[in-house]
Amino acid sequence: MATVRFDAVARLRGELTPSADKSVSHRSAILGAMSSTPVRVRNYLEAEDTISTLNAVRALGARVERAGDGELTIHGVGPAGAREPEQPIDVGNAGTLMRLLPGWLAAQEGRTFTLDGDASIRRRPVDRIAVPLRLMGADIEARDGRLPPFTVRGARLHPIAYDLPVASAQIKSAIALAALAAEGATTIAEPAPSRDHTERMLAAAGVRLHRNGRRLTIESTPELQLEELVVPGDPSSAAFAIAAALIVPNASVTIRGVGTNHTRSGYIHIAQRMGANIEGEIEADPGEAIPEAEPVADLHVETSPLHATTVEPDEVPLAIDELPLVALLGCFADGQTVVRGAQELRVKESDRIATVVDGLLGLGADIEATDDGFAVRGTGGLRGGTIASHSDHRLAMLGAVAGLASRDGVAVDGMEAAAVSYPTFEADLARLL
Ligand code: S3P
Repeated sequence: MATVRFDAVARLRGELTPSADKSVSHRSAILGAMSSTPVRVRNYLEAEDTISTLNAVRALGARVERAGDGELTIHGVGPAGAREPEQPIDVGNAGTLMRLLPGWLAAQEGRTFTLDGDASIRRRPVDRIAVPLRLMGADIEARDGRLPPFTVRGARLHPIAYDLPVASAQIKSAIALAALAAEGATTIAEPAPSRDHTERMLAAAGVRLHRNGRRLTIESTPELQLEELVVPGDPSSAAFAIAAALIVPNASVTIRGVGTNHTRSGYIHIAQRMGANIEGEIEADPGEAIPEAEPVADLHVETSPLHATTVEPDEVPLAIDELPLVALLGCFADGQTVVRGAQELRVKESDRIATVVDGLLGLGADIEATDDGFAVRGTGGLRGGTIASHSDHRLAMLGAVAGLASRDGVAVDGMEAAAVSYPTFEADLARLL
């Protein structure tokens, strides 16, 4: 396990291009594998999670040609052509792969697929996808009915109308992929909007789908028509540089090529409400329209005096992966910052309510956990100390950013976890110092 120290810095200057979007990369590889014609992917994320996805689609019979620099061509097997692998599919640490892939596999009639992963994956619930996929006709087994390993026996599927119990893009996407093979129209109702990358990609692939308020309807589609997919910079990775630029003194940082999809921009809106000086064009909410492209912009961020805010349950899905950073910003803000309705944080790569609160307490923060979030009182900064990543990539990167803005520096135990989503994180950050 690597321990890396991040010492306090007096300024942060320059430009950074974040790693490619993890969510969009997973989806590109899966839809590429489902296609009957080759799909070119530009700026695919070359990180542990998304390499697991390439290995998974290879195990299912797809051929992946890699030309370097994130350029791939995926020669898929077609919607109904997934090969039954001899070994269980290893999803590694990737929850998105674990939840999305079964949506496709559920429709592979007469074939059986088992998915398994690391220790973190084995404690993350899969009943959330098992329930709707069973309703569509798939045969599914999971450990204790709710945890990986997860086995799906493909079947002839039929459409359903399903109310999601939680606002989760992973569940929505698993059902949407299964819906392509379920003759007729499948309807999914979301309790609150969640990231919409799957809908955009399906629209680009010629699938007929439409939104009506919180309801998404997807028509079955025999073939995807996709030629090229372009992956934007990951706003969830850019979020670390944004936080650093807000809380390190004398910072002026430009972040290039960030995905500004409105369903991923909750963190920027929350930070701006706290007083953050972040300039750049964020996509406006397109309402019921489903855009095909992923918008991209350059963002400019400067050190900002911050004040506390309350993050309400409706905002949570649009900022879910950045809420640990809201806790960090809260340490530097005047007043008490509260996050409510974020119990989903407990089933991420680590229990992020517990690991964020314990981690920041160890660095001198005044923070407490609640059942569904946390409350943090700004104390003008952070002392520093040691933080454990708990093998959670976002915890590792949070510790690094905390170190740059702390008084005594921060040692991050388990920094290698960052490679799950952002392998060049340390090098990119170092260039700003
Ligand atoms: C993701 C959806 C979110 C998010 C995860 C990626 C996706 O999970 O936390 O990192 O790519 O669909 P949930 O759908 O469980 O909220």
